[in-house]
Order: sequence, then structure tokens, then C-alpha cells
Amino acid sequence: MATVVVIGTQWGDEGKGKVVDLLTARADYVARFQGGNNAGHTLVVAGKKIILHLTPSGILHPDKVCLIGNGVVVDPKVLLEELDRLQAFGVAVAPERLVISAYAHVIMPYHRLLDLAREARKGHSKIGTTGRGIGPCYEDKVARTGVRIHHLLDEASLRRRLEAVLDEKNFLLTHYYRQEPVDLEAVLDEYLGYGRLLAPFVGDVSTCLNRAIAENRAVLFEGAQGTHLDVDHGTYPFVTSSNTVAGNACCGSGIGPTKIGHVVGIMKAYTTRVGGGPFPTELFDTTGEHIRTCGGEFGSTTGRPRRCGWLDLCVVKDAVRLNGLGSLALTKLDVLTGLPVVRIAVGYRCDGAVLDGLPAEMERIERCEPIYEEFPGWEEDLRSVRRFDDLPAPARRYVEAIRDHVGLPFSIISVGPGREETIVVKDPFAS
Ligand code: GDP
Ligand code: IMO
Ligand code: MG
Repeated sequence: MATVVVIGTQWGDEGKGKVVDLLTARADYVARFQGGNNAGHTLVVAGKKIILHLTPSGILHPDKVCLIGNGVVVDPKVLLEELDRLQAFGVAVAPERLVISAYAHVIMPYHRLLDLAREARKGHSKIGTTGRGIGPCYEDKVARTGVRIHHLLDEASLRRRLEAVLDEKNFLLTHYYRQEPVDLEAVLDEYLGYGRLLAPFVGDVSTCLNRAIAENRAVLFEGAQGTHLDVDHGTYPFVTSSNTVAGNACCGSGIGPTKIGHVVGIMKAYTTRVGGGPFPTELFDTTGEHIRTCGGEFGSTTGRPRRCGWLDLCVVKDAVRLNGLGSLALTKLDVLTGLPVVRIAVGYRCDGAVLDGLPAEMERIERCEPIYEEFPGWEEDLRSVRRFDDLPAPARRYVEAIRDHVGLPFSIISVGPGREETIVVKDPFAS
């Protein structure tokens, strides 16, 4: 079956955007199924860089159709600005090329305000969210008080929706968080305006995808965030508010689980994390600084410096199980060039026991001490390498050690941000 799901195996920013852009050459349709503009997916094509937050990373390929599924939370202003940026980048996005599910939930101004106010009040215990209103929007979806894209197309129904929720939101904003209230008429006006601009793009993503799959067209699902930011399976409560694992490609787009062909897990050659939460292999020394500088590890969405550390295979092995991964794509191997030694965590010592995965309780994760295997480093620049056998021997050994520990083959090894800076070992669509 020609359906491939691309998932982050760590805490996000693994290089999903680059890999999706690359694999789009083989796809007809590319769909996002969860998350929102908390995501920042970077694409570098012919030396030109663009960061996408909502539009699927397939959009730079002119003849492909991109879909925003029902599981995504859409900030319409951000989406419209992104379409403008794409236009300036030389990519005009006609409605035939972008379909937004009528069922997708809309991030409203009060979602952003509540996200920021809540984080500010939490002080030291804050999650370190992106402040984009993601959590409050998903909360409203589950509370059945959300605004969906189709509401933006109908004044009467948007007004009814806002009348039903704004009293409570404004009470919370003014009395609990001491913020300004949100004005119903102003929000109504603004969001009906977005609705008018987005109307040509609104459609039935589920039917479109099922038809494509029935016609044996190639479909790529683009995950956002990473497995360990999943609201159920991640390092709760330091997670995002959606299911980021591959199973949600079905719920978040309206296809059945029998339609998924292959799942590729994207893993960085080391580990990063943005925001709060446990991170057993985090480095606070010059090696961490080397990785941050050489890897350009600053958030694509918020610009925050990313926390950096050694590769943690406990994290990756959990992701293999949680996503049913069929292969791995290794990214940013080039960033490790110049380090005298490189390390991989293959287990943890915790409370006198040896573990090979992350425990459920945050406090126990904090007490996990990584068990490392150490490998010699390499000095060569890898960015021009296009065949696995042409990698320097220590880099090959590092990759082979990962493969052997995880027990999965690599379909892709990325050695630079550019589309062409890639070793394709096996096409995931041929799996
Ligand atoms: P995503 O959120 O998973 O799509 O990842 P981000 O785009 O937030 O972060 C990945 C960063 O690494 C981006 O700046 C990419 O351009 C860059 N990148 C991706 N693959 C590679 C690679 O193999 N080597 C290097 N040096 N950079 C890469
Ligand atoms: P991509 O798709 C890295 C993190 C935030 C915070 C937590 C909750 O680019 O990999 P949220 O705003 O979602 O409520 O924040 O999740 N986070 C990400 N970290 N990459 C991302 O997306 C992220 N999206 C959210 O930093 O710790
Ligand atoms: Mg990112």
C-alpha cells in the first residue's frame, strides 16, 4: 500500500520537514493530521530556507495536493500569513492544491491568551509551551465547546458558538488571570473575514484521502512534534495536547487503520528538547554547546535555544513500539563531526534497577542515569556523502550500532539540511 506515515521518534524537531519534502517527490498527497502552528518544519531547497507551521511540507512540489486533516488545530491568521509567505517564496497555493478539513478546530484569540496567561502564572513549573493556544484549543474540542472551520463560513452559527463560550472565557480571563476580555463582535468580524478568505480551500479531507488510496495514489502523512510529546505516551505533563503517534494519522485525517502501509521514524543523531520536562541524556557542557551551535539548535517556532544531549535509544526504542515503525530515517549525522567521541544511551540505571525504556512517573525519569556506549568520533565533513559506504568508518560504525540496538533498518540518512544532502538507503514507498 502506498501510504507512508512520517513520525518524530524523540521530542520533536528531528527533521520531519526535510524528510517529508524529500519523500514528496514520490507522493501524490501529503497530509497533516495533528498539532498546529506549535510545529516548525524547515525546508531547504536550492539553498533557500522556509519554515512551515501549518501547511504540509509537500507544498513546495508544484503538482502535489496538501491536506490539513480534522485532527489539526488551525490558527487561520497564521495559515493565511503562511500562504502569503509561500507566495513570496515563489509558491502560489491554489485551492486545488490545499484542502482544509471543515472539521478541523480553530485556534481563537482567547486560546492564545489563556495559554500565555496560564504559563505565566505557573512560573517555575510551566510546561514551556509555544504560546500558540494549542492546549486550550484541544481542551475546547474535547469539552465540545470548540469552533470548527465550518463555523467560520456561516455568521449565524459562529455567533451562536461564540455566545455559548465567550462568557466563561471572559470570566476566566478577567477574574482569574486579570487580563482584558475578548469582544464578541470584534472576534466575529475578524474570524468571518478569515472564513471568507479560506472558504475556497475548505473541503472533505477524509473522502479525498480515501479516494486517493482506493486509486492506489501515494499518500504521505506528516507527523508534528515527536512521540515523547504525545499526550498519552509522552513525558506527561511535559507534552503537547494531541496524540503525536502514528495511530493518530487515522483519527486525525479520517482513514481506517487498514490503510497505513509503512511508518518511518525520524531520529536525530543526538537528542534535543524545547521547553520543560525530563531529559536523561541532556548535556550542560561544551559538547552540548558544540551540538547546539553546529546543529543550529534554536526553535523554528519560538527561536528558543534547544536543550541538547546524546542520542538516547531508550527513547527511540519506545517510539518503535508505540508507532509500529518499519524503518528509521537518521538526520543531522553531519553535526557530530569534530567530536572526539560520541555516546549512545542504551539503558538507564534507576533505583537499583536497569531499564530499557522511559518509566511513567516524571520523578523516576528524573532519577534515571543513562548507561552509555562510547564510540570514536570523526573529523570529515559528511555533507557531500551520498552513499553509505562512503561515510568515514567511525560514522558507519555509529550508524550500525544504532541499527543493531534498535533492530530496524535505515531508509534514509540525512547529512545536511538541503534536499540533496541525503543518502537514500531504501525508498519507504517501496517497503
Ligand atoms: P522538524 O520540526 O522535525 O521538521 O525539524 P525542524 O525543522 O524544527 O528542525 C530541524 C533543523 O535541522 C532544521 O533547521 C533543518 O533544516 C535542519 N536539518 C534537517 N536535516 C538535517 C541534516 O541532516 N543536517 C543538518 N545539518 N541539518 C539538518
Ligand atoms: P515540531 O513539529 C519541539 C513542545 C513545546 C512544549 C510542549 C507543549 O516542529 O517537531 P504546546 O505549545 O504544544 O502546548 O507546547 O511541546 N513542542 C515542540 N517541541 N518541536 C515541536 O514541533 C513542538 N511542538 C510543541 O516546546 O515543551
Ligand atoms: Mg520543528
